[in-house]
This record gives sequence, structure tokens and C-alpha cells, in this order.
Amino acid sequence: ETTLMDKVVGLCKRRGFVYPGSEIYGGLANAWDFGPLGVELLKNLKEAWWKKFVTERIDMVGLDAAILMNPTTWEASGHVGSFSDPLMDCKKCKSRERADKLVENWQHDNGSDEQPANWAGEKTPPQDMLDFINAKNITCPQCGSLDWTLPKAFNLMFKTQQGVVEGEGKEIYLRPETAQGIFVNFKNIHTTSRKKIPFGIAQIGKAFRNEITPGNFVFRTREFEQMEIEYFCKPGTELEFHAFWKKFCMDWYLGLGVTPDNLRFRDHDQAELSHYSNATADIEYHYPFGWGELCGIASRTNYDLSQHMEYSSKDLQYFDEATREKYIPFVIEPSLGVQRSALVFLCDAYEEEEMKEGDTRVVLHLHNQLAPVKIAVLPLAKKIADNAKSVFDNLVRQLGLNMDFDVQGSIGKRYRRQDEAGTPYCVTFDYESLDDNAVTIRERDSMDQQRMKIEELVPFFREKFTY
Ligand code: GAP
Repeated sequence: ETTLMDKVVGLCKRRGFVYPGSEIYGGLANAWDFGPLGVELLKNLKEAWWKKFVTERIDMVGLDAAILMNPTTWEASGHVGSFSDPLMDCKKCKSRERADKLVENWQHDNGSDEQPANWAGEKTPPQDMLDFINAKNITCPQCGSLDWTLPKAFNLMFKTQQGVVEGEGKEIYLRPETAQGIFVNFKNIHTTSRKKIPFGIAQIGKAFRNEITPGNFVFRTREFEQMEIEYFCKPGTELEFHAFWKKFCMDWYLGLGVTPDNLRFRDHDQAELSHYSNATADIEYHYPFGWGELCGIASRTNYDLSQHMEYSSKDLQYFDEATREKYIPFVIEPSLGVQRSALVFLCDAYEEEEMKEGDTRVVLHLHNQLAPVKIAVLPLAKKIADNAKSVFDNLVRQLGLNMDFDVQGSIGKRYRRQDEAGTPYCVTFDYESLDDNAVTIRERDSMDQQRMKIEELVPFFREKFTY
């Protein structure tokens, strides 16, 4: 049986949204390349985020920090020490399994908060952990053996080296989140932008994680982009802003047309919260494979700035001129995945619509802001292609939108191709257009058609594509 996920993956490949990464060499596990339509979708969704979260807000500024950072950053942030997953090996066939649930259960039964990250290197896990595993009789899914090694922590950060001489370079990391680039620039931005608390810093960029269990298409990959904000506020006001940003993020997804029933909040309970967080919520989406995280909104107290103050010996406090107070700001962090959001928009927009006479059409009901191709200009016949092309040229120049011009195949087939790509409007230029200076506009979702003067197209579309 073909699942919705299979259909979305198939459409993405067929139409040039997403291809398997380095496919001609047999691919690279869980790497994906975004094709001509995919790159437009990503660009549009990042622009939509930037517009609502940064441009339209006077309390927000942007940043584009380097991916490679001084490695002390990751000691201060805690990523060197504890950004890891516990894994255990089958002694017989050497296959590797996640042990996070196991460790959790062990911690729970023993009332211990001993972390697998502390067991790396010299230190070994508590000895009774092995007895605990043996007592659970866990069968290896590969070979059926019951014999396991002790769980070991595997850090998720990608390491590389700076410097050209192999083995002599300085070991550095590819950033596992964009957030730390914001914290280390807090002082710079605060002094140069003259923003007063509360204010936020936004950044979009790549992040890398050596994920143990990547998968579900672009849901979890080792290379992805994040859209992150650190919103700095006065201690004591953070929960109010946490509630504000939760709603703001949810409204952003709803405003881009995601089905409300497919979205929900999930608040982390006390046990799940990081030690420095006093509130964290995820927005979850009902993916074809079940409910899963879409983005997170965390209240991180002053943990990160305090850590960076300690490790850098720089004063990162804020001086409130109105109250003459000095404090380390608290922070709310809304963190959204770019490709994961794209997956949500694609799954949510996908429809196989029953037509007359057992015919079905595949249509992507993408929001106008997200649609990779906004308008397709279609000459009814090759003979009038030049006339149609000048309509296209004029529109694309005046509107500055990504458009398509398609002469190939019957008009019905061309409409269907655009439906599959999520193109909201087709403009058909026919023989009559030569006389009446008008064209037919066909709307994707309703398939309604209307005749419009060519000179009215620009204001019409400008209005339609204002986000
Ligand atoms: N700075 C906070 C932070 O990084 P996170 O929950 O680890 O928090 C935030 O990541 C968001 O980034 C997730 O909700 C998800 O949308 C996206 N994300 C995280 N890991 C990902 C991965 N391996 N592949 C794709 N997206 C990922």
C-alpha cells in the first residue's frame, strides 16, 4: 500500500522538489538535495518567516553568524559534555541500538540522574547497569542475541579540523544549532543596534548533527537549516513571553494554511525539561507517520549567557537605564526547522482529488506565499507563443515573482502539471487575446476561470501575492 509519505516523496522526486543526495553515486544515507521547485519553496518559507518574525517587528533584528565557531563555545553551551545519545552494541553481530529509554528506566528505578555523557572515555557506567540490561532480556533485532555491551554516549556534533596539515589542525565543530552564534554576539548587537530589552535576535542557517536515527524523508537529517530566535527579556517576565511566542509560532503555521486539526501544542513536563529551562513547549504536526515535533519554544532562563560569561570572562550583563538595574537577561527561544516545515507544508497541501469519470488530479494546495511557481503563462498554440511570451516578460519584470512559461502539450495536461507543482494561477493566452487584449485566468483550487484585460493583471496579482 502506498502511504501519503510515499506519495509526497514520489511527487517531490518526479517534479523536482527533492532528490536523493548525490544520487548518481548511489546516494548518501539521509542526504537530500532540493531541486528547482524545492529551492523556491525553501526560499519562500524562509522569507515568510523573516517577514513576520523580523521585518514587521520593531523589537527584532537579524544575524548571520559563521557556522564554524571557537570550540570553547561548545564547552560553554554544554554541547561537548552532554549533546549525545546513549548507544549499546550487540556483542555477537556488533549492530548498534539506541539505549536512551533503557538508561532512562535505569535512572528512574535507581533514583539516579547519572548521565551516559559522564560514562564516556575513562569513566564507565555503574556496574549494575549491565545486570539491569541482562535482566531485561533485550533481543538483538539483527541476530537475536541477548548479549549487549554497556551503553556509551555518542556525541552528535560533527568534528572537523581547521588548518591544512593533517593531524596538526585545531579540532573544531560544525555547529549543531544556530542559537549559540546569537548568544556570543549578544553584546555586539546590543551595543550597535541600540535595542532595549525586550528585544530579539533572529538567524536562519545550516546546522549539523550526527543523528543516530535519521529518517522519514527530510524530517530528520544530518544537515538541515534552522530559523531561530533568542528573545531577551527581564527576569520574571519570561513566562509571559513564552506564551506569546508559542502562539506567534502557531499562528505563523496557521496563517500559511496548515490544517488546524493537524497541529497541536505539547508542553514538556517537569521530568522532560532541561535543568535550566522553566518552560518548554513543542508544536507538533500530524505527519503521515504519526504525531511528531515540528518546532520548539523554550524558556532557557539566563543559562546560556551565564555560561558564556563564565567561559569568556566577558561581562554580558544588560544595564537597564530606566531602572538603573544590571542583570543577565532571560531568554525565550523559538526554534523552527526549515526542511521540517517544508515537509509539513507539502504533506498538508497534498490532495488527490476525484474528478468526473473516475479521473483524479493531484494538486498541492500550497499557500500563495509558499508556492514555488506563482503564475504560469500558457499560450494556447505555438503560433501565438511569442505574443504570450511578451505577456510573461512584462508580468515577471513588474511583479518580480517566480513564474513559468509552458508551451508543451495539451492545455489540460499543462494545467495538471501546474496543479501538481502547486501553482496558484495559470494565465492562458488564446487567439482571441490578439483581438480583445484579454487572457483567461484559471485558479488552481476551484479551477474557476475568468477573463481579464492584460493591463489589469499586474494589480490583480500584486494583491493576490501580498503576504
Ligand atoms: N536551539 C534549540 C534547538 O536546536 P532542537 O529542538 O534540537 O532545538 C529545533 O531543534 C528544531 O530544529 C526542531 O524542532 C526541528 O524543527 C529542527 N531539527 C532539529 N534536528 C533536526 C534534524 N536532525 N533534521 C531536521 N530538522 C531538525
